[in-house]
Amino acid sequence: MESKGSVLMQRYEVGKLLGQGTFAKVHHARNLETGASVAIKIVDKEKIFKVGMMEQIKREISVMRMVRHPNIVQLYEVMASKTKIYIVMEYAKGGELFNKVAKGKMKGDVARKYFQQLISAVDFCHSRGVYHRDLKPENLLLDDNGNLKITDFGLSALAESKRQDGLLHTTCGTPAYVSPEVINRRGYDGAKADIWSCGVILYVLLSGYLPFHDSNLMEMYRKICQAEFTYPKWFSSDACKLISKILDPNPNTRIPISKIMGTHWFRKGFNLKSAKPHEDTGLRDLEAKAADDAIFDHCENAANTTAEAKQESSKLTNLNAFDIISFSSGFDLSGLFEGSDQKSESRFTSMQPAQTIITKLEDIARKLKLKLTKKDGGCLKLEGSKLGRKGVLSIDAEIFEVTPAFHLVEMKKSNGDTLEYRKMMKQEIRPALKDIAWIWQGDELQQAEQKEGQPADMHSCQIPPLAVN
Ligand code: ADE
Repeated sequence: MESKGSVLMQRYEVGKLLGQGTFAKVHHARNLETGASVAIKIVDKEKIFKVGMMEQIKREISVMRMVRHPNIVQLYEVMASKTKIYIVMEYAKGGELFNKVAKGKMKGDVARKYFQQLISAVDFCHSRGVYHRDLKPENLLLDDNGNLKITDFGLSALAESKRQDGLLHTTCGTPAYVSPEVINRRGYDGAKADIWSCGVILYVLLSGYLPFHDSNLMEMYRKICQAEFTYPKWFSSDACKLISKILDPNPNTRIPISKIMGTHWFRKGFNLKSAKPHEDTGLRDLEAKAADDAIFDHCENAANTTAEAKQESSKLTNLNAFDIISFSSGFDLSGLFEGSDQKSESRFTSMQPAQTIITKLEDIARKLKLKLTKKDGGCLKLEGSKLGRKGVLSIDAEIFEVTPAFHLVEMKKSNGDTLEYRKMMKQEIRPALKDIAWIWQGDELQQAEQKEGQPADMHSCQIPPLAVN
């Protein structure tokens, strides 16, 4: 249906492929009535169902509806067939800003123009309670006039998804552009995290390479967390001053957008008028949203998830592949950044729904005579009744959702003796979990070989690419 040359819904002639991801393709297309160019993101419904990403697509669409700005790719309409969702959007003819950066550093005035447009658009998103969370040159396109357009709101968060502490808790984004607080996984302010990414982008535009880079990912994280970078000699002192205020590892003292816009470097040649948002579309948007909802209602009916499973999974901590990298043994950041004792925690992945994992843990608690308490966010506490060498042994189990059918479970000693914890894990808990545990951390290679033939998606779920100099 969407192959080159085909006509979509009698309205668009589909043209060349512009980009391709695991779950979607973006094609150039022409509106048959007006002749105008558009870009159509074609999402495979079945694939996104399988990995539980329907909510993410829904969010991307509602976010695009909320942010109409000259420097943000505009959403025109959403259509659906039985197997596909079609997101029709503004076509940015100039392609990725990344391609320009790949050719080398930019002149100061050119970099400034892109940075001004980026900051105007990001400021507008924040004013609407939208945080992009994956800002990087690959997500910045150029139109035929060379104006910047932000795209790919697939990882963006709305203000409503903040937890009670007012902070976001999902670790997302590409490592080179993510802020220290996102890496540290302690909850973060989405606005501050986006500002950090803008600082990295500005550095990249002016230099042609990343401020934080190392072939060793751990080293790269360390450099990011300490804001360890140097300025090339061609950076002006005003640019250095601004970058040092943006790349401040402390989000509380990091410069806010209002102050960035007031700096000498930023203000040069800034055209406030061209950065004005599009007029609000009021009722038209509401009608369009109702149409989108109808598309998704239809999708949800097709999804075979029970209301109970949905309710259970909505309480869990959301996790993406980047968290998994952080959790996996090779890149375990907890020792480096959080000072925890790695030997008093174990993690495993499971291909079971959250409720099955919870039921299993309840069974185990009953058999081992442990008291089980359920806490918010998919957390369970298992407590012994006897006094051990260092008090009563207590284990916190936290279930992280990767997709509704794929979870990561972390079991951490929260009280008692580490040796007693390890003994109980080895002799009692791990064997009892064998039916539902897919792979235990530390045993990945050995177990993955034994379990070959399991769905490949689980190995390759969206691990973000690393940008290199
Ligand atoms: N690639 C991805 N989205 C695009 C868009 N809106 N315009 C041009 N190329 C794209």
